[in-house]
Amino acid sequence: MRRILVTSALPYANGPIHLGHMLEYIQTDIWVRFQQSRGHQCTYVCADDAHGTAIMLRAQKDGISAEQQIARVQAEHEQDFAKFLIQFDNFSSTHSDENRALSANIYNKLKENGHINVRGIKQLFDPEKEMFLADRYVKGDCPKCKTADQYGDNCESCGATYNASELINPLSVMSGATPIEKESEHYFFKLPEFQAFLQDWTRSGTLQKEVANKLAEWLDNDLKEWDISRDAPYFGFEIPDAPGKYFYVWLDAPIGYMASFKQLCERRDDLEFDDYWQAGSDTEVYHFIGKDIINFHALFWPAMLHSAGYRTPSAVWAHGYVTVNGAKMSKSRGTFIKASTYLDHFQPEYLRYYYAAKLNNRIDDFDLNLEDFAQRVNSDLVGKVINIASRCAGFVKKAGGTLASTLPEQDLLDDAIAKGDVIAQYYEDREYGKAIREIIALADAANEYIHEKEPWALAKQEGKADEVLAICSLGINLFRQLVTYLAPVLPAMADNVTAFLNIDDLNWDSRQQVLLNHPINKFKALMSRVEKDKLDAMIEQEKADALKEASANQEATATVNTGLSEPICDEIEFDDFAKVDLRIAKIVDAQLVKGAGKLLQLTLDVGEGKTRNVLSGIKAAYAPQDLIGKHTVMVANLKPRKMKFGMSEGMVLAAGPGGDELWLLEPHAGAKPGMRVM
Ligand code: MSP
Ligand code: ZN
Repeated sequence: MRRILVTSALPYANGPIHLGHMLEYIQTDIWVRFQQSRGHQCTYVCADDAHGTAIMLRAQKDGISAEQQIARVQAEHEQDFAKFLIQFDNFSSTHSDENRALSANIYNKLKENGHINVRGIKQLFDPEKEMFLADRYVKGDCPKCKTADQYGDNCESCGATYNASELINPLSVMSGATPIEKESEHYFFKLPEFQAFLQDWTRSGTLQKEVANKLAEWLDNDLKEWDISRDAPYFGFEIPDAPGKYFYVWLDAPIGYMASFKQLCERRDDLEFDDYWQAGSDTEVYHFIGKDIINFHALFWPAMLHSAGYRTPSAVWAHGYVTVNGAKMSKSRGTFIKASTYLDHFQPEYLRYYYAAKLNNRIDDFDLNLEDFAQRVNSDLVGKVINIASRCAGFVKKAGGTLASTLPEQDLLDDAIAKGDVIAQYYEDREYGKAIREIIALADAANEYIHEKEPWALAKQEGKADEVLAICSLGINLFRQLVTYLAPVLPAMADNVTAFLNIDDLNWDSRQQVLLNHPINKFKALMSRVEKDKLDAMIEQEKADALKEASANQEATATVNTGLSEPICDEIEFDDFAKVDLRIAKIVDAQLVKGAGKLLQLTLDVGEGKTRNVLSGIKAAYAPQDLIGKHTVMVANLKPRKMKFGMSEGMVLAAGPGGDELWLLEPHAGAKPGMRVM
C-alpha cells in the first residue's frame, strides 16, 4: 500500500469559486479517488488562502473584519466543493493556529541557517491611507508613451514595464492621493543560495518536462532574493521577531498545506505528521496547481522546505488555464461561470466527466466549449454507458431479478477486465482523456454486442428466455466494469450503481469477480441529458450578475471621485477637438497577437476599399470571432505608432472600466465604413 498526500492550490478567500478553479479540484479529486480505489492510503487536504492586501481591502469595502470576510467566503467555498463531490479529508484556512506555528517554525529555521537577509527598500506610500502600495494599487501616466491611467507595473498601451515609482503623476488607487516614496526594512529569503539545489531538484523527475525546461532558463541566470515581508497594515501573520512586519501571503500559503494536514493528523489515528514531512520520508506528496503559480511551488517552496530540514514534494503537477468557448473567461460575456451558478442548472458530474474526457497531463490551456460539453455528456454517458444498463435491466427483472449463472461470450468481459490495467496506468499518469477513450471504446463494444443479439426480439420468441437472460447478464457485467473505471470521475453515479447491482463497492480489484447467479435491484434512471437551453440560461445569469457588480463598482468609484478636490480632466479648445478625425470602421478581421496578453489585432475596413491595421487592448473583453463584421468608431488620423507587437494605424473607441468590462462603441445601422463622425 502506498501512502500518499495530495493537495490542490489554496483558493483565495476574496472571491467565489468558478469553473476555472474547478478544473484543478476535479483533476485532483479524480486522482485521489482513483488511488483509493486501488487500495492505497491517499489523503487529500486543502484550505482557503486567507491572507494578503486584497482580502484586507475587500473586508474594508464590505465594512466587516477580515476574520468575518474569510469565514464567510470559506463557508461558500466549502459548499461549492462539497456539491461538486470534491472529497477533501480536511479543508482548513491559512489563518489557523497550526499555520501560524508552522510558519514561525520554518521562518526561524531559515533564519538560523542564515537564509534571511534584512535590508531597506524604497516603495510608494499612500500618505492618506498610511500604507505602502503594491504595483496594482498605483496608477499614472506611462513613463514611456505617456498614456494616462496605467498600472504601476506595465503599460497597457505600449507594453513597457517599469517600477511604480517611475510613473508620471502617480495616484493611489485607494484614496486618490499622490503617493510619496518611503523607505522601510524588508525581509528577504536568499533564493540565490539554492541555485544548485534547484537546478538538481527541478530536473529530478519532480516536474513535467515542459515545466522543467522553462525553469531551466531561469535557473541558468542569477536568481533574485525573494521579498517575504510586508508592512502593516496587512492581514497575515506578524513575523516573530519583527513587530509591524508581516509574512507576505505567499510565504505562509504553501505552509498551509502542511498545516491543514497537521490539523487532520490531530483527529486521525492512522496519520502521523512526521511520516509525511520529515526529510527522507518514504511517503509521497503531490501538489496539483495551475500554471500561473509554478514559481512559487517549484522554486521558493522546495528551497524553503530544504533549508528548514523538511522533505520536498515528490512532484508538482501543473495544468493549463480554462477558456470558455475559445476565449478567456469574461464577466461581461457571461462566461466567468461561478461554481454555484453552474450548479443552479446542472449536475456536478456532467462537468466532472467533460473535464476528465479532455484532460491530459500537460499544461496546455483547456477549452470548455459549451456545445461540446452537452454533446459529450449526452452521447457518451447517457447514450452509451447508461444505455447498456437501461437496455438490459428490464429483461433481468422480468426473469426474476437474478443474473444468469453462466455467461456467453466470456472474452468480451475478459477483455473489459483486462483493460483495467491500461486504464489504471492512464489515470496514474493523469492522462484522463486517454482513460476515458478506452472506457468509451468498451462501451461501444458492449452496445454493439447487445445490438447484434437483439434481446428485445428474442424475448418475443418461445423458449429463448435463458438466452435473453444470459445476454443481458453479460450486458450488466460489462456495465459494472465501465462504472468501476468511471467511479473516480462519477462517484455519485457509482454509488447508485452499487445499490442497483447490490454489491459492496466498485473498487478496482473487485472487478475481477464476475457477477453470476447474483440478485440485482430495480434500475432507476441514472442521469438525464444536458438540456441546451439551460446553457443559455446559465450564461444569462452570469451576465446579469456582471451588470449588477459593474454598477455597484461604479457607485463605489463615484463616491471616491467626488472626494477628490481636483477636476479629473483638463478642458480643451474646440479647435483641438476638431483635429480628431473620427470615422466609422468595419471590423473585417480580428486575430490574437502572439505573445501579447492584452491585444487583439483588428483589420478595419475604412471605406473606399482601404483597410487599416489596429492593435487594440480589448482581448480580455472580446473573443476575436465575436468582433468580425461589427461596425465601430475609430480615430482615423492618429499617427501610426510602432508598438511592441507591430504597427498600429489608428485606434478604436471603447467604454468601460477596462479589463473584461469594456464595450466597443457601435453606431446605429446605416452608418457605413469611412463616414465621418461629427
Ligand atoms: N492562493 C493562490 C494559491 C496558493 S497555493 C499555496 C491562488 N489562488 S487562486 O484562487 O487564484 O487559484 C487557485 C487555483 O486555481 C490555482 O492553481 C490557479 O491556477 C487555479 N485557477 C484559477 N483560475 C483558473 C482558470 N481559469 N483555469 C484553470 N485554473 C485556474 O493562486
Ligand atoms: Zn506606455
